[in-house]
Amino acid sequence: MKTTIAAISGSLKSTSSNTNILRALAVMAPNNVVVTVIEGLDTLPHFNPEAEEEIASVNLFRQKIKEADAVIFSTPEYAFGIPGILKNALDWLVSSGELNTKPVAAISASPLYPGGDKALASLLLTLTALGTNMGANSSLSIGSIKIKMNEAGEITHAETIQALELLLNSLIENIALSKTEYIE
Ligand SMILES: Cc1cc2nc3c(=O)[nH]c(=O)nc-3n(C[C@H](O)[C@H](O)[C@H](O)COP(=O)(O)O)c2cc1C
Repeated sequence: MKTTIAAISGSLKSTSSNTNILRALAVMAPNNVVVTVIEGLDTLPHFNPEAEEEIASVNLFRQKIKEADAVIFSTPEYAFGIPGILKNALDWLVSSGELNTKPVAAISASPLYPGGDKALASLLLTLTALGTNMGANSSLSIGSIKIKMNEAGEITHAETIQALELLLNSLIENIALSKTEYIE
């Protein structure tokens, strides 16, 4: 059976470096692992804990996260924090619990040297609140991203490719480990 990883970008930009990083991970993944970029975070309404009616976009989003063996995030930093669309999406998962015990990895990428490290720290805090399973090598911030990609959005920087491979392989190992623990 295939291992499935849902990939969530914090950027809505059509030329997003973060979305391109997730696409690169999808290409890097071994044959038995499918990485799928989840689109449509902007179709989720603003989170409201009193929303009791069935909301189709929220149900679909929750279902995709539930079905995935793991989730990888890649986010830009806006004003030292994570973009509102990403925080909004995560807030929809708090009470429904799809991320609880789920293996995750988190990346931030920015054209600036620090690589969006404050957004990454904030994302990791939220993922901790959601009860996710963060194993070894599960976070990475990538600075100066524009000079590490070509015009087609492919990563050309060898060290960044290596760091992404390490993150992906560590996540795949963590998925296997968590399944073993579940069986035991
Ligand atoms: C409103 C706004 C605020 C930003 N704030 C930050 C910031 O605090 N730190 C940072 O590293 N980059 C910041 N940036 C630059 C983003 O990192 C940059 O737009 C990046 O390309 C976004 O990632 P993407 O290519 O995946 O969309 C900001 C950009 C915008 C539009």
